[in-house]
This record gives sequence, C-alpha cells and structure tokens, in this order.
Amino acid sequence: MADRDEAVFEAVAAVVDPALFHSLGELGTVRRAARKRGRVEVVVAVPSEHYPDPDELHRRVTEALGAFAEAGSTVSVELEAMEEEERAALGQRLHAIEGVETSAPVGAAGAGAAGRTSPLSAPKSRTRVLAIASGKGGVGKSTVTVNLAVALARAGHSVGLLDADIYGFSVPRMLGVTHAPMVLGRTIVPPVTHGVRSISTGFFVDEEKAIAWRGPMLHKALEQFLVDVHWGAPDFLLVDMPPGTGDVALSVAQQLPRAELYVVTTPQPAAQRVAQRAGALARQLRLPLRGVVENMSWFCTPDGARYELFGFGGGEELSSSLGVPLLAQVPLVTAIREGADDGRPAVIAEPDGEVAKVFEELAARVVALGPARVYRSELKLS
Ligand SMILES: Nc1ncnc2c1ncn2[C@@H]1O[C@H](COP(=O)(O)OP(=O)(O)O)[C@@H](O)[C@H]1O
Ligand SMILES: [Mg+2]
Repeated sequence: MADRDEAVFEAVAAVVDPALFHSLGELGTVRRAARKRGRVEVVVAVPSEHYPDPDELHRRVTEALGAFAEAGSTVSVELEAMEEEERAALGQRLHAIEGVETSAPVGAAGAGAAGRTSPLSAPKSRTRVLAIASGKGGVGKSTVTVNLAVALARAGHSVGLLDADIYGFSVPRMLGVTHAPMVLGRTIVPPVTHGVRSISTGFFVDEEKAIAWRGPMLHKALEQFLVDVHWGAPDFLLVDMPPGTGDVALSVAQQLPRAELYVVTTPQPAAQRVAQRAGALARQLRLPLRGVVENMSWFCTPDGARYELFGFGGGEELSSSLGVPLLAQVPLVTAIREGADDGRPAVIAEPDGEVAKVFEELAARVVALGPARVYRSELKLS
C-alpha cells in the first residue's frame, strides 16, 4: 500500500468485519489507509456489491477512526467491491484463518467424504456444538433451536445455526433469512440474521425441489456445510438435527464428534417410550445427552386461565429417567407460531414477553452447563 499511515492502518485493521467475522487486518481487506493534510482516507474491500452489511461495516470503521475525527481530521471511508480472483483468494484466506485442511489426503482418518474435516471437530475448537433433536417431528425442535440461537446471540455470544434437517428444512423461514450466502470461490459465508449465522439446504433449492437431495449429494451438502462454510469459530453452533437416527443424523454426529445432545419433547407422560428412544438416539449417535426441553407445556388464555393441553409432566419424567436436567418448559403461545411463519422469532418479536424470558433462562442454563467433558478412551479405567 502506497502512502500508508501506520496509525490509521492499525485503527482500521482492528475492526471486525460484521459479515466475515474476522478483523480487517486478518482478512487483508484494508486497501488504503492514508493521512494527508488533515484528511484521513480509508478504503476497505468487500467481496461483492451484494455484501450484506455495508452500513454496519462503514459504521465500525468510522467509529474506529473517531480519534482522528476528534483531533480535527476529515475522515472519509469508502467500500469497494472485489474482483473475481480477489474473492476466490479471500475464500482461501478464510479457510486458512479457520484452519480448514483444504489439501488433506482422501480418506484421511476421521475425515469427511472427501477427506476433509471441519475445524469445528478439532479438539482445540472453542465452539460448543449443541445438537437439538427429538424423538418425533412436530414437537417444536426447529422452534426451540431458532429461539435458543437468537437468545444466545442476544446474550452476547457468537452463534451459528446449521439446519441439518436437509429434507424438512425450516430455518430460513423461521429465522427470516433474507439474503443468500456469499460464495467466495469454494468458501460459503453464511448470512447473519438477528445476530445468528445460518446455513440451510433451503438457501440452495426451491422448497418443492428439496426432495431432490439424495445420497452422495446429501453427504456432499453436509460436508460442505461443515467444512466449506466459514462459520468463524462461533461460541456456539446449534444444529437442528434431522429426525431419528437415519443416515443424515449419523453423518452429522460423525462429523461433529464434540456435539452435545439436547432433546425436545412434549408434556405427554409417555415417558418410558420417549426416554428409551432418546437414550437410544444418544447411544447411536454417540453423543453425550445434556438436557431436556419441554415444549408446548401449557397455554394461558388472555384472562390468565392456564390449560395443560398436551398433558403434564412429560419433560420432568423424561429428564429424571435419563438423569439429565429439564432445562426449560416452553408455553404454547401464538407469538411463537406467528413468529415462525413470518421470520420473526418470538424472542425478537416480543423481547420482553414470557417466551423471551423462557429462552433467556434456557440460554443461561446451557451456558452454565459448560462444555461436555470429553472422556478419552485411552484414559478410561477398565
Ligand atoms: N411453543 C409453541 N407455541 C406455539 N406454536 C408452536 C410452539 N412450538 C412449535 N410451534 C409450532 O408448531 C409447529 C411445529 O414446530 P417445529 O418447530 O417446526 O417442529 P419440528 O421442528 O419438531 O418439526 C410450527 O408451526 C411451530 O410454529
Ligand atoms: Mg423442524
């Protein structure tokens, strides 16, 4: 960079790109950082004209240059779109920053279909992976996943959401994702909605065509979601698991061996059967079961009468028979269904409401549980 001013450069380099999750210094996207006769000029490169959050990036850079403005300089900040090769180079750089092995030999131990592993599965990864599952569909698994993700983000954590329900995806609609991922060469940058980075097959197909995802394509999609998606090492990655223990679920669990399992259930006291199923799920997926969330626990009429429409005690019984905590009971409220239909999760639509409180507490409990202890088999006493 010609006429680069170190003080200006340093201030700008420290800014974190809101859409790429790393500092502009790490990304190498500061194109110009000059200071001449009371004028500070900064140019930052963004991947394309479709860069999702130019205003926020502009705001952050301008804010970082506040000291220069206060000292009387005129500050000019411009964003410029990259050329195609620069985009591909940035994609490679993102992979390098996250430690994605792009050249691992095919069939390397523990690797995905093409021999590539996700940085999220590395032992040193700081991301807690929360796999949200249920014994059957329609109990509110996606609803819980989406609202918990937003609640964690609102509590200040960085959060990713992987919609692994490949055929039954609902995250794009429920979270209200409005723009497509950015594709930089081979790297896919997830859109950020309500503070949550998300990826779903729904971004890549029409709803009617979703059924076309089959066999190898599906594994490829999953692998791409874990390896080629630039998650940016979030504090939490929530996974909306596909139902049951089919191929996709097993594949997710294999590729994310550090995932913790959470089970969503309804209050019907069919505890034994549900417990057996949840226990079997944890064993088959080989993931530690951390807790139970009961959904649709009760319904309150506007005059305050409380009805237990779907029975009572199911969550409590399930958690005690599995020996894990019941982490939350989520009431049945219209705001949840309406929010799911128009992309405004209840936690966002009514931030001071009952549901927001339930999910805030759930988020706090999950944080308090801490990461699952990893038992290394070689250390186990026989
Ligand atoms: N607590 C709740 N109150 C009201 N509606 C809910 C609640 N939980 C889920 N729903 C609605 O029930 C339906 C099924 O929920 P969903 O999260 O899609 O279930 P799953 O992912 O387990 O199939 C959706 O229409 C959703 O909006
Ligand atoms: Mg679902």
